[in-house]
Amino acid sequence: MPRRRPLVIVGTVLLLAACGTTGLRELPVVGATGIGDPYYPGDGNGGYDVDRYDLVVGYDPGTDELTGTATITARTTGTPLSSFSLDLVGLEVAAVQVDGTDVQVSRDDDELVVYPGQVVVDGDFTVRVEYSGVPEPVEDGPGESGVVTTDDGVLVVGQPDVAATWFPVNDHPSDAAAVQLSVTVPEDLVAVSNGELVDRGDPVDGERTWVWRSDQPMAPYLVTLAVGDFDLTEREVDGITYRDAVAAGLSDRRAQNARAALDQQPAILDFLAGVFGSPYPFTEAGGIVTASSLGFALETQTRPIYAQDFFGSASGAELVVVHELAHQWTGDDLRLDRWRDIWLNEGFATYAEWAWTEDQGGPTVADQLADITAIPDDDPFWEQAIGDPGAASDELFSEAVYLRGGALLAALRAEVGDDDFAELLSRWTTDRAGQAVTTGEFTDLADEVSGTDLGGFFDAWLGAGKPPGY
Ligand code: ARG
Ligand code: ZN
Repeated sequence: MPRRRPLVIVGTVLLLAACGTTGLRELPVVGATGIGDPYYPGDGNGGYDVDRYDLVVGYDPGTDELTGTATITARTTGTPLSSFSLDLVGLEVAAVQVDGTDVQVSRDDDELVVYPGQVVVDGDFTVRVEYSGVPEPVEDGPGESGVVTTDDGVLVVGQPDVAATWFPVNDHPSDAAAVQLSVTVPEDLVAVSNGELVDRGDPVDGERTWVWRSDQPMAPYLVTLAVGDFDLTEREVDGITYRDAVAAGLSDRRAQNARAALDQQPAILDFLAGVFGSPYPFTEAGGIVTASSLGFALETQTRPIYAQDFFGSASGAELVVVHELAHQWTGDDLRLDRWRDIWLNEGFATYAEWAWTEDQGGPTVADQLADITAIPDDDPFWEQAIGDPGAASDELFSEAVYLRGGALLAALRAEVGDDDFAELLSRWTTDRAGQAVTTGEFTDLADEVSGTDLGGFFDAWLGAGKPPGY
């Protein structure tokens, strides 16, 4: 289960924010220690918005120690701030500067509270945090996620909570930012992250510094790092650079299946651009296949991570790639404003898998819908309201969120017709590109595109119970 944190209400924020609307001169306030997501009240922070993370980290596989400097460029979103928080779990903080001036900080559970002192932050500001330590793994259902050590290095993979376990961050998908990660590791290891490989440095004293950069904003949980013995390859197809990292420790058969599935990425992106009615949102792509005992795949931006078990057999191995690449549109480029709306990620990625399967001559999308609506009314499958599934890992990533979410879209397509459905997906992924989105915004657009009131349809599919009439 993901970490749950108590709700902290900062009275002054509410009070002074209210004054701000009266036209009085705005007084500095203390930024809230949560961004306001009821599922994870401690995640994210109020009062500012991050523009960019510049992370310079070193990782020692012998001790698992991470040493980092995070330079965060941000901007206040309303009144000036006399204090604000960053999310940070564990780790020692050695020094913090705001706009170049040393400032005091305190630690309060998973918050790093920054007091700019006499200096009030107003508009653009920069925070620099020097930190180090061994990151704490995150409990995740039966396993672990977050920063997990592997036989030959480390892997950063988790949802929804991972970023704050390895860098100070406004840890919520609604605040996406550009990221540059510069990571120094022993020279015989490879360090892979999101986006473009800017530099792979020359060995110096047995170490090498890899620099990865993503200029397009990214939700913090999508920032990844994989250090280990990887076979890293690069190719360019139709203006997209693919960098794939396959763990050297895989069996020949798995490595071969993984390579074959990753080789299909250009065809999959082409296909998905058709399904979504909009081009692939990024110029970088690729996958990371880990040899660790990871139990899932994750849509880490531009470079998803895949557990090796997905590649146990050759047939259908590309489906997980279709799923994670679909998330690049729905999940990554369009990101969640609130975690409650997770079906907007998982339902769409599941629908994309079905569309691919149909295109390959397998069961059609309509067949998949029929299979799901054949589940009896009294089956527990129908009990979960996917519009508000619950914050625990087995609720957020339940079978229903994926399958009922996919079925909702298949049923919607049948309801509004192929043309309106195609226009809806195209407008959704084009008009809302690069933004945080909500279920309400999707249902409003569906009403608009179809010219009908789909309120009853969405209530039935998003609420508890089997939708009537199926
Ligand atoms: N979003 C991922 C996917 O559907 C699943 C992540 C499961 N996460 C977890 N922490 N168990 O591809
Ligand atoms: Zn998914």
